[in-house]
Amino acid sequence: MTRFKDRVLLLTGAGSGIGRATALKLAAEGASIFISDIVPEALEETVKLAQEVADDDAQIEARVCDISDEEQAENSVAACVEHFGRLDTLCNNAGVLGYQNTHEMSLAFWRRILSVNLDGAFLMTREAIPHLLETRGSIVNIGSTAGLSGLAYGSAYSASKGAIHAFTRAVAVEYADRGLRANSISPASIETGMTKPTPMPEGANLALFQRLTSLHGVAEPGAVADLVLFLASDAAHHISGEEIRIDGAALA
Ligand SMILES: NC(=O)c1ccc[n+]([C@@H]2O[C@H](COP(=O)([O-])OP(=O)(O)OC[C@H]3O[C@@H](n4cnc5c(N)ncnc54)[C@H](O)[C@@H]3O)[C@@H](O)[C@H]2O)c1
Repeated sequence: MTRFKDRVLLLTGAGSGIGRATALKLAAEGASIFISDIVPEALEETVKLAQEVADDDAQIEARVCDISDEEQAENSVAACVEHFGRLDTLCNNAGVLGYQNTHEMSLAFWRRILSVNLDGAFLMTREAIPHLLETRGSIVNIGSTAGLSGLAYGSAYSASKGAIHAFTRAVAVEYADRGLRANSISPASIETGMTKPTPMPEGANLALFQRLTSLHGVAEPGAVADLVLFLASDAAHHISGEEIRIDGAALA
């Protein structure tokens, strides 16, 4: 595969799950990847694993970054372009999930979810756009089926992901005349750190989650990674402003 030869991709949340799987597949295809995460040890592990599968042409650069911090987000994009000299694709993958009853949700809880899932993606996108315009590049945002359909006890998460879908569409339209593409992906039931048991409010009705569950069982994060690679590749040159579900027919 040579589709990512001389291509530079910046990927957030690469220390785990979908981000790690995407980093490994890109390294195996010989891409130049700039990967980041808020957890240094997790990021180091991804670098190690990516080096094990990397094609000879692959280049891997890693940097710890909290995407919700404006200065860190700015520095991360700048460091990527300084290191590799260009940027072809930004993948906003980092995200956090938490459950609370909405009527008991603190503003601090709400803001924590929104600051990573929405502010972080905005900051990274804002910094990346000037460089992506130079390469007629692309953005792949990881949204969620929770942004398309209600997630009980996850109203903050749902709101952040619904906003990501809307943000992606707006960016796709705003820069369409300059060749920049932006798409979002909505996964569900992908086995990652995020799908490990997460604290629920007392008395939560778990039956409310059935409507958002894959009818094809659980999938590996590599399934989403494959879709990220496709959307970042030239094969998707006419796809922009799209929201693609990868949810085992959960919302079909
Ligand atoms: N797993 C699923 O079924 C599923 C479903 C829908 C959407 N998603 C989305 O997929 C994306 C990837 O999640 P995942 O399932 O691989 O979960 P994950 O928890 O395994 O990975 C998320 C990564 O993001 C990192 N991260 C968290 N906060 C960060 C911050 N402030 N700055 C930088 N990095 C940060 C974490 O350290 C972690 O490595 C997320 O946006 C998530 O909302 C996942």
